[in-house]
Amino acid sequence: MKRQLFCVIIIFMKTRLTVIFIILIPVLMCMGCAHSGGKDDNAGKAPSAPGYGADAYTESEIEGLASVYEGRDEGAIPAKRVGVAMPTKTSERWINDGMSIKARLETLGYEVDLQYADDDIELQVSQIESMIRNEADCLVISSIDSTRLVDVLKKAKDNGISVIAYDRLLMDTDAVSYYASFDNKKVGTLIGEFISDQMKLKEASESGRSYTIEFFMGSPDDNNALFLYKGLMEVLKPYLDDGTLVCRSGRTSFYETCILRWSEDTAQGKCSELIKEYYQNGDLDIACSAFDGFAYGILKAWKNAGFAEDSLPLITGQDAEKNAIRNIAEGRQGMTIYKDTRILAAKCVTMVQALLENSEPEINDTFQYNNNVLTVPAYLCDPVIIDEDNYEEILIGGGYYTKEQLFQ
Ligand code: BGC
Repeated sequence: MKRQLFCVIIIFMKTRLTVIFIILIPVLMCMGCAHSGGKDDNAGKAPSAPGYGADAYTESEIEGLASVYEGRDEGAIPAKRVGVAMPTKTSERWINDGMSIKARLETLGYEVDLQYADDDIELQVSQIESMIRNEADCLVISSIDSTRLVDVLKKAKDNGISVIAYDRLLMDTDAVSYYASFDNKKVGTLIGEFISDQMKLKEASESGRSYTIEFFMGSPDDNNALFLYKGLMEVLKPYLDDGTLVCRSGRTSFYETCILRWSEDTAQGKCSELIKEYYQNGDLDIACSAFDGFAYGILKAWKNAGFAEDSLPLITGQDAEKNAIRNIAEGRQGMTIYKDTRILAAKCVTMVQALLENSEPEINDTFQYNNNVLTVPAYLCDPVIIDEDNYEEILIGGGYYTKEQLFQ
């Protein structure tokens, strides 16, 4: 009885919920009567464990309990929940993205459910469904296939849950409030400009010199891949048109060169086929790849064809993965695109706050990202070219990697 009365008094003192007090007092009085009337109140219950029986709490336990109540913020409300759905752990960047978002949200006091879906669309759908069941207040989603979440996103909307598209735009839905990403078209432009500078395409064009090139583009179910292709072709198409760049396979369109699910193995297979059919002498000058993972596949295909490292084509990439930086430092890969996932995560978190706390997130694009239903307000971070000349200054100097992480 001592315990129940104590708790009621504490609740009354702390919350001043008079209604609860009025309701509980008679109930507890009855319990007290029952208690004093019975000989063994604990019969059939665990022996004297806290929470069982009227005298289960000792004086010192009650004092402990009181101090817990004392330490509590009077206005404390349960933390809001954020579900974070990431596509895969096979590529380093998503691991970094997930960790950065989770850490930032937790620092702000949110409860975070971070899930990776192994590039399995059904698994991602069921992870998001479970976040909805667990009453998430907001969802941050980086899709595997941007068009296959329409139904589950509708469920989220019907349950009043806000959604942010993270890095990859969610297509064909009105259930998305904001989009946090990089300037995906610029990623392509930067890759194109790097190739153009390295191979001196302008001079080559003027002097009638030509180079061979093949393309390894991103996944057709990822809107970013198409944007990248468009930016890339703005730079390279004139050189394809005037014959400065020669693509022996003739595959230059996005749909002829895209690689489903950004698969390194598929890129390796495609590169082996191209070598066998068009470049038996190892005379491919440029392997224009949209992802570091493809660059690894191209390197393997080159090696498996029996060609020496010093005859490698100029290989491009994206994501500034540790392996890619090693390859750049050692001359096997020409460049990559650095996307600082810490900045992207920070921008995304301001969007979560805006949706949950009625604040205003920073938006810098309101026209580029139409998902076939609406134009999603976006914050686009700046991608940066990384090559052998600047990786130390930007990646190590900027604290993204330590030297040991890169070269141990
Ligand atoms: C991202 C790239 C990444 C690719 C493969 C794209 O959606 O924008 O940064 O390389 O997915 O994971």
